[in-house]
Amino acid sequence: MQMRATAPGRVNLIGDHTDYTGGLVLPMAIDLRTTVTLELGGHEVRLTSSIDHETAVVPIDVTDPGAVTPAWARYIAGVVAVLAPDEGGAGHVASDVPAGAGLASSAALEVAVALALGFEGPPLALARACRDAERRASGVPCGIMDQLAIAAGVEGHALLIDCSTEDVTPVAVPAHAAVFVVDSGQRRVLTASAYAARRAECEAAAALVGPLRAAHERSVETIADPVLRRRARHVVTENRRVAAAAAALATDDLAALGAAMVESHASLRDDFEVSTDVLDTLVDDLVRISGVYGARLTGAGFGGSVVVVAEPDAPVPGRRVHAAAGATVTAV
Ligand code: GLA
Repeated sequence: MQMRATAPGRVNLIGDHTDYTGGLVLPMAIDLRTTVTLELGGHEVRLTSSIDHETAVVPIDVTDPGAVTPAWARYIAGVVAVLAPDEGGAGHVASDVPAGAGLASSAALEVAVALALGFEGPPLALARACRDAERRASGVPCGIMDQLAIAAGVEGHALLIDCSTEDVTPVAVPAHAAVFVVDSGQRRVLTASAYAARRAECEAAAALVGPLRAAHERSVETIADPVLRRRARHVVTENRRVAAAAAALATDDLAALGAAMVESHASLRDDFEVSTDVLDTLVDDLVRISGVYGARLTGAGFGGSVVVVAEPDAPVPGRRVHAAAGATVTAV
């Protein structure tokens, strides 16, 4: 049987480095996609790719996904290790989600591979399995945002995700709110170790003031360690900004949405310290363009892309993206 699975990338409008603390995020699946075609059978998953000349060959009993080569095959190996399928398959990956640009290309690949291998279950179960696959593949202790946005995407909508309950609430994106992605050209470096360090700092702060999702800004200011205080301040204020941004989107208040995005970038830069000079300069330049409501780094930071919300005809030097449906699979 031949399977054809397709999964979108995602852009996060607001709410970064909140998902793994049970916070709020507002991503949307986008109209850039990864498609996996797979003829089922055999004891390995063998995939050629439009983005890498080296073929991925992963035995279905793979035990150490992080050691697999070529590197892009690790995401396939992570999915195989988590799903432990009875049979593998041979096929091809085609994708127009750029790698390393902060648009969750690895999560799109994981979700498409899982569906092509016959995963059955609701979007949340698919997202959890693929989040676990990402952790095993990359060693990054990521949250659920990317995989859930990709599995549960709704055309024309962003998704307000409460990462403590894993509830997903679609929020319509007005037609005149144009979303652009501007690639900084800076490929992410040191993400794995810096990401893990930030997550550990959030856990250390939570040990002092309780779960950050419930913590008040006043109690955060009592944290003596200045680094932990800044990290916690980002998470607590970012959750507030995500809620405000979702309300602003729902009521068509794009000025308020844009203001929350600009504040989010400043918080990621100053308190969470995951921005770069290149991203900061890009955001400064973009918000000066006539018709731009707001701009901020999107995703983990340390390079990657900036997301912009603007009037549709604003001269933003990037790619306009549209909110897309989530991943699908068909058997042919
Ligand atoms: C990466 C992770 C997500 C999330 C973002 C930052 O994309 O995969 O889980 O933590 O960084 O918001």
